[in-house]
Amino acid sequence: MALRWSRTRRILLALTGFLVAAALVLGAGTVWLFTTADVSTVGRVRFENELRIPPLADSRVEADGTRVFELDMRSGTTEFRPGQATETWGFNGSYLGPTLRAARGERVRVQVRNSLDEASSVHWHGMHLPAAMDGGPHQMVAAGASWEPRWQVDQPAATLWYHPHPHGATESHVRKGLAGMFILDDDAASALPLPHDYGVDDLPVIVQDVKFDGARFDTGRGMFADIGALGDRILVNGTLAPFREVGDELVRLRLLNASTARVYTFGFSDDRAFDLIGTDNGLLERPAALTGLRLSPSERAEVVVRVRAGERVTLRSTKTDLGLDFFGSRFSGGDDGFDVLELRAAATLRPSPALPAALVDPELPQESRSVLRRDFDLTFAQINGRAMAMDRIDATVTRGSTETWTVTNSDGMPHNFHVHDVRFAIARLNGSAPPPELRGPKDTVFLGPGDSVDLVLRFDGPADPSAPYMFHCHLLWHEDLGMMGQFVVVEPGGQAGQIAPHAGH
Ligand code: C2O
Ligand code: CU
Ligand code: CU
Repeated sequence: MALRWSRTRRILLALTGFLVAAALVLGAGTVWLFTTADVSTVGRVRFENELRIPPLADSRVEADGTRVFELDMRSGTTEFRPGQATETWGFNGSYLGPTLRAARGERVRVQVRNSLDEASSVHWHGMHLPAAMDGGPHQMVAAGASWEPRWQVDQPAATLWYHPHPHGATESHVRKGLAGMFILDDDAASALPLPHDYGVDDLPVIVQDVKFDGARFDTGRGMFADIGALGDRILVNGTLAPFREVGDELVRLRLLNASTARVYTFGFSDDRAFDLIGTDNGLLERPAALTGLRLSPSERAEVVVRVRAGERVTLRSTKTDLGLDFFGSRFSGGDDGFDVLELRAAATLRPSPALPAALVDPELPQESRSVLRRDFDLTFAQINGRAMAMDRIDATVTRGSTETWTVTNSDGMPHNFHVHDVRFAIARLNGSAPPPELRGPKDTVFLGPGDSVDLVLRFDGPADPSAPYMFHCHLLWHEDLGMMGQFVVVEPGGQAGQIAPHAGH
């Protein structure tokens, strides 16, 4: 009996010891994961590379006035760091693409060639254009094939961008480097005394977070990073640790968050105020002074900052409010900080005209015109409880009508919401008037857990019942998993047509 008891006790003791040890290891592991999950490069970046400015794309104008661009999707290698050749993709080069530029009213045509060895597509994010020209998952371009979308620019001046949109593979295609800026001009914007010398006092700032594993990109997702794969260093226009010399008192930055998952809060190293003059899809009615600005993937902002002669000031991303608890925030990059770009002001600066107090009529859709309300519920990785299906139309809208879309994030993780073809107004964020940075023309909006936005959208057509436009979460891993839906624009009384289940080539 005694012998048996002591044996039981020995076993129990051993078991307890094991459990305590396991708990300690697990606890320590969690602490280790937690404390190593945040990244900060604040104050630690030696800005040693001159910021690359994507070239303005060449174009030719045909007899009928059509401006023609050429984009070739290709693979190559890029030396982000000396001696380390990273395999990348790009348009007309090895990484990113040229900046396309066209004016309101102009007819454009793009000769897209896919020289990759897999199918892809080119979507004109923020562009109002016929659905068949949109470059979404229904306009795939097979390896070796070409595609020639054409449309007439019919929207106000804005900073748009282009990127692939193959269903299920958008994240990887963008991460490899397929992205570029598309700037639209119009007379009203060009008449304003704003900085407008591309690459001089008007700088494209394409921000992407990357991680290297040797020469390769490491695109793995962190253990709890349910927003997607995050990087630990920043590329601006494909340049690591970039600086830029500036020679004007006022500098306009066209910020584009071209990251696949990361949300930033941009500001400056000394917390100086800057003026927001434009949001995703156009200029504001008047500048808004801010010290920080949150941009989720694919959101854009045009800001103007004043520099002093001879100084250096850093564009920085600091702690970002993702609407998460401290644990979630840590693993989703909310606690991270990055030095993004150093501006080096010349010893003497060219004087810039003062920022105008009034900018443009932002031509936003009016809620009073809204004839229909729809609800969209975001829950990982579905919209309204359904994952994307290529042959299912989720909404049929009437050409020329205005609608209100209430988008609610009823999930525990952050999302955003992008609608193709339209520029929307945000009528309300959680029942209240939106802050200044959400009052301009938008096409993508961030939603933390529990957030709800009322968007006002006007569908100006043209009608095409069998070519859908997309709406989706622009955290690209979520989108790839199916957080996307489709709508068609039809004539009054019309119905959605049959959609081919597989992308046409
Ligand atoms: Cu940036 Cu569906 O797009
Ligand atoms: Cu888009
Ligand atoms: Cu999402």
